[in-house]
Amino acid sequence: MAAAPLLTMSGITKSFPGVRALDGVDLDVEAGEVHCLLGQNGAGKSTLIKVLAGAHQPDEGRISWEGREVRLGSPVAAMRLGIATIYQELDLVEHLSVTENVFLGHEVATRGFLRVRTARERAAALLRRLGHPEIDPRTLVGALSAAGQQIVSMARALSHEVRLIVMDEPSAALDPDEVGNLFRIVTDLTAQGVAVVYISHRLEEIRRIGDRVSVLKDGRVAARGLPARTTATREVVSLMTGREIAYVFPPRPARPYGTPARTGDEAATDRHSGDTGSGTTGSGTTGPGESGSGDAHSWDPWSKDPRSKDPYSKTAASQDSAPQDSAPQDRVSEDHRSQDHRSQDRPSAAHAPQDHEPHPPAPRSGPTVPTPLTPALLSLQSLTRKGEFAPLDLDVHPGEIVGLAGLVGSGRSEILETVAGARRPSGGRVLVDGKPLRPGSVPAAVRAGIGLAPEERKAQALLMLEPVSSNVSLSSLGRFSTGGWLDGRRERAAALAGTRDLSLSPADPDRPVRTLSGGNQQKVVLARWLLRECRVLLLDEPTRGVDVGARSELYALIRRLADEGLAVLLVSSEVPEVLGLADRVLVLREGVVVHRAPAAELDEHRVLDLVMEGAPSC
Ligand SMILES: Nc1ncnc2c1ncn2[C@@H]1O[C@H](COP(=O)(O)OP(=O)(O)OP(=O)(O)O)[C@@H](O)[C@H]1O
Ligand SMILES: [Mg+2]
Repeated sequence: MAAAPLLTMSGITKSFPGVRALDGVDLDVEAGEVHCLLGQNGAGKSTLIKVLAGAHQPDEGRISWEGREVRLGSPVAAMRLGIATIYQELDLVEHLSVTENVFLGHEVATRGFLRVRTARERAAALLRRLGHPEIDPRTLVGALSAAGQQIVSMARALSHEVRLIVMDEPSAALDPDEVGNLFRIVTDLTAQGVAVVYISHRLEEIRRIGDRVSVLKDGRVAARGLPARTTATREVVSLMTGREIAYVFPPRPARPYGTPARTGDEAATDRHSGDTGSGTTGSGTTGPGESGSGDAHSWDPWSKDPRSKDPYSKTAASQDSAPQDSAPQDRVSEDHRSQDHRSQDRPSAAHAPQDHEPHPPAPRSGPTVPTPLTPALLSLQSLTRKGEFAPLDLDVHPGEIVGLAGLVGSGRSEILETVAGARRPSGGRVLVDGKPLRPGSVPAAVRAGIGLAPEERKAQALLMLEPVSSNVSLSSLGRFSTGGWLDGRRERAAALAGTRDLSLSPADPDRPVRTLSGGNQQKVVLARWLLRECRVLLLDEPTRGVDVGARSELYALIRRLADEGLAVLLVSSEVPEVLGLADRVLVLREGVVVHRAPAAELDEHRVLDLVMEGAPSC
C-alpha cells in the first residue's frame, strides 16, 4: 500500500459573515514536493493556509498528518507538527530585532532568560543559509526592506524543525534576483524531504519550481494536483478565471502625445520620428482607431524560453518561433483569440481590439513613433541623487507611458520617489508644465499634480475597519465635498467605478477593507491613487499581488488614464509588463540609463542583456 500523503485536508469549509471563503476544499501534499495553490484574488488561498497553520478553525472538514487525523487548534499545534507559514501580510514585530523576531515564542527565548548570544548566532546561521549574511541579527526589523523582512520571516520558519512550509506569495515583495535565491532555498528544502505549499500569481514561477498545482475558484477546488510543468497555461488560467484569458496589453496610440484620440485614418497619416531624448525610431504601433490590426499583444506567462536567463524566465510564447527581432505585433499568441470572451463580459477593457484573427507582422520599416506636439508635462533635468542614480534627463508628455526597467538597486524606485518629492535630489530639478518644483517636497509635488503609487502599498495605511469607499476616496476628499460637506453618494459612486475597473471582489464598496483578500486590499490602494486627480502618475510595481484575471483590466485602465492626458512613469520588475504597457522604455543599470528606446523596438532578451551587461552609453 502506498504511504499516506504527508498532509490531507478534506471537505474544509470556512465561512465569514456574508462570505463562504472555503466550500468543501480538498488538498493533499506529499513530502518533498512543491505543491502550488492558484486562484484569483479572493479565491480562498490564504484562508485555506490559515486553517492549515492553525490560525483559523474550519467550520467543517478533516485534516490528516501522515495518515492520522489531527486537530490544528492553534498555531502552536501546527508548529509542533512541523508546519511553518510565511504569511502574505508578514507578521513581524517591527520594533524588535531580527533575532527577537526569529525566535519569538521560541524555547531559546523562553527558558527563563533570553540567551542572547546563542540566539543571535543561530539567527546569523539561518540568515547565511538563506543567502543573506549581510543582514545583521541586531537590526530592528522595521528598518529592513520588504525583501529583508521576507527573509527574516523565512528564517523564523526555518528556526523550527519544519516538515511542511507554506509560502503565501513569497515572491510578491521580492525582485527577480531575490526570487532566484528563494527558489534555491525551496529546492534545498525539498531535497531534504520538506514539503512546500507555494502560492503565487506569477504563473511562470509555478512552472519553474512547482511539482503539482491545485486551483481554487470561489472557495472550491477547480482542479487538484495537476502536473505543474505540463499542464497547458490556458487550461490552468481558464480553471482559475472561468474564462480564457492572457495578459492583454492595450494598443498604443500612434498619435502625437497630448492630442485627443482620433480615427485610424488620421492617426495613420501622422507618423514621425525623433522622440525627445530617445533619438530612435520605432517599429509600428497602431492606434485605437486601427483596432484590429493586432497591436494589442498577449503574453503567455507560462511560456518557457530556453534562451531566457535566470532570474527572469518568461517571454511571449510565439517568440520561440518568431525571428528574434520581430515586432510585438508578431507576438500575438494563440490566446489572442480569447479576447472575444473578455471584451464581451468586460466592458471596461475598452481598448481590446475587436478583431481576433492573427495578423501578419507589421512592416518594420517606416518611423512610427509619434512626435510629441505638446510640451512635456513632466521634465527631469539632470536629476540625480548621489550614490543612487546618475543625472537623468527625461520628458514625459501628456498621454505617454514611460517605463523604467532594471534590477533591484538599479535606482528605479529611487527615481520615482525623488520625482514625488519624497527624496531630495542632490542635483538637477523636476518640472511640471515647465515650472520647477521645490526640491524634496511632497506637498509641492502633490500640488503640482504628481501622484506616486508606491511599491510597498501595504505599508500605506489602509483604514482596515473602514469601508472600501472611504479608503478609495481618502486622498481625493476635496473632490467629494461641497461647502464642507462630504458628498457620500458621489464618493461611493466614484469608488464603485474605480473598484469595478480593477475587478475588486466582492464589488461592494461598503465592505470593511479588513475583510478583503490580500490582492483585493492592494487594488483598493491602487484605486485610490488612480482616482486622485493627478496629472503625473508614478506607478511602482502596479500589478504586484494582482491576479492574472485582473491584470489586463489594470493595464487597460492605465492606458485609459494616459489617453485622458496623464503622463505616466512606470516601474515594474516584470520586463514583459514594461514592454507591453509603456510607449518608451529606459533601461537602468546601477543608477545609469544604459538604453532608451520605444518599447516596440525592444524584446525581453535585449532588455535583460542591457540590464545585466550593457555598458552605460547615455
Ligand atoms: N477575516 C475575514 N473576514 C471576512 N471575510 C474574509 C476574512 N478573510 C477573508 N475573507 C474573505 O474570504 C474570501 C477569501 O479570501 P482569501 O484571503 O482567502 O483570498 P486569497 O485567495 O488569498 O486572495 P489573494 O490572492 O487576493 O490573496 C474573500 O472573499 C475575502 O474577502
Ligand atoms: Mg491571499
